[in-house]
Parts: sequence; C-alpha cells; structure tokens
Amino acid sequence: MSDTSPTLYISRLLPDPVMAIVRERFQLVQEPLDALPTPTLLREGLCQADAAIVTLGDHIDAETIHAATRLKILANYAVGYNNIDLAGARQCGLIVTNTPDVLTDATADLTWALLLATARRVVEGDCLMRSEHWTGWSPTQLLGSEVTGKTLGIIGMGRIGQAVAHRAAGFRMPVFYHTCQEPDGSSLPSEWKCRPLQALLEEADIVTIHAPLTPGTYHLIGARELRWMRPTAFLINTARGPIVDEASLVDALKRGIIAGAGLDVYEEEPTLHPELAQLKQVVLLPHLGSATLHARTQMGLVCLKNIEAVLGGRSAPNQVT
Ligand code: DGY
Repeated sequence: MSDTSPTLYISRLLPDPVMAIVRERFQLVQEPLDALPTPTLLREGLCQADAAIVTLGDHIDAETIHAATRLKILANYAVGYNNIDLAGARQCGLIVTNTPDVLTDATADLTWALLLATARRVVEGDCLMRSEHWTGWSPTQLLGSEVTGKTLGIIGMGRIGQAVAHRAAGFRMPVFYHTCQEPDGSSLPSEWKCRPLQALLEEADIVTIHAPLTPGTYHLIGARELRWMRPTAFLINTARGPIVDEASLVDALKRGIIAGAGLDVYEEEPTLHPELAQLKQVVLLPHLGSATLHARTQMGLVCLKNIEAVLGGRSAPNQVT
C-alpha cells in the first residue's frame, strides 16, 4: 500500500486472506473491528473513503449516502442488500454491489443441516447427552419426523432455492416451489412443480424460505399463511427474518398449528424473540448461512473485484443499483 492507494472503509474484520489483500492494496480509513460499528463510526468511515465494504448489519440510509460524497462504490458483503437504501444510492450515482454465487452452496448446505436438525431433534439429543441424564436407548425416545420422501416446498427459486432443491433428490423428496420472480432465466427441472403460495403451504411437509427481503416479501408468512400449513409441517428460514412475522410464528408453534421451525435469521437481529428460546421444537442458529471460511473468503474477494473494477473506471460485475 502506498500513500496514493485508494482509501477503503471496511465496517467489520473480514477473514485473514481477504484482509491480507486489503492491506496490500488500499489505505484503510479505520481499523475494522470484530463488532458492528456505531452509526457514527460507520458514517465517518463511509464519508472518508473512495470505496467501502459493508455487511448486512450496517443499515445505510439515504442521508448517510448523501453525506458520503467521496464514495464511489458500496460493496455489500452479502447476497441480500435490503440493508441499503438503493433509491438513495441511485440518486447519488453510488454503485452498490453484492456477492452472489459464492455463498450458494454454503447456504444450501446450512439449510439442510437446519432442516435435518429440526425434523430429527438433533439439538434436543445433544442437550440430553450433555445433561448426563441419558439412561440409554429407548424405543420411544426423541422420536422425530422422517424427511426422506416428504414434500419440500421452496419459497424463492433463485440460486439458493435451486441448490436446496437439487440436494432434495438425495432424499427422494418431491419439490414444489413458489416464486414471485422468473427463476434466473434458466429452465428448471420439470419435476419441480411451481405452486401458488397457498397450495405450496398446504401441500408441503417442510417449507423452506429462500426469497430476498423486499417490500413484497415482508411478512410473507404470517398468521394466515401459517394456518395454511400442516400441523405436522416444519418451517425453515435461512433467508431474512422479516419475511416471517415472528410473533405469529411463535403463536403458531405454541398452539401446535405447525410442528416446528429451524431459524437462522430473525426479525430484529441480533435480538431474539423472548419466547423462541423456550420452544424445544425450534432450532436456532446465529445467521450462519454463508459461514464457511471458503464462502466468506470468496465473498470478500468478490467485493474487492467489484471495487477494483469501479475505481479502475470499469463496470462492476455485481452491480445491483
Ligand atoms: C447474505 O449474503 O445475504 C447472507 O445472509 C449472509 O450470510
């Protein structure tokens, strides 16, 4: 890095291989911390830099974007970009990019981990072993739900939804999907059946959400939709918390309207709805969808590729504005 290197703001410490490249090629305007920056630090960092890498916990509103007059590109370290005011970015000519593709497999794998853990009561089993109260094998102990051969309902059929669907073949599961958008232009395998939302919720044994958070998907799953689901069904969400009305979900779980839920994302992250942790039919993860060293490193490299393109006067490969 030299004094003439471009300035970069990074809101969070990224994996070592990414930080090594960053320190070689850019001047950092702030030393990134392993915690969310305060709104003041975030704003100061964005205002001082030519380019920035921000994460899904950084809420970047139009006012901040207008204040960051030097900033040319905001590289969001995520595939979802609901944390950024895109209209504000467009108005200011600020380029916003995301990190598609590189986290698809990690997120699809985690979805299956959560799905299986929820249906087969893996966490309850782990707790029993650690409690030292296990008295030995029993024919009626912690009986879960069979996954193989059950119907999988996928809401959102972009890259991650499709990767989840491909993995379902190993479990011989019929796949139904519901999507508000055309799925990626590619033709989907004919054995995956498109369904209206209500039909999907009524027919699926396991419903998994892979849609982006937009005004149209906010609270897409609320009290009425949960009532459409089967009392034996499970809801899995590794997309964005606000797609599900969390208070209605808690109510549905308490009243046995659905059988269980596996959640990786929450309405008010990092705050957990107080009653969710009390429910043993729920498996809770701390937003780990893309949390592999490989995916998180690739996400950083994608951010850097976009930044270097924009600062070099070229178009960003993953521009979303
Ligand atoms: C994303 O990329 O949107 C994920 O939620 C981050 O893991």
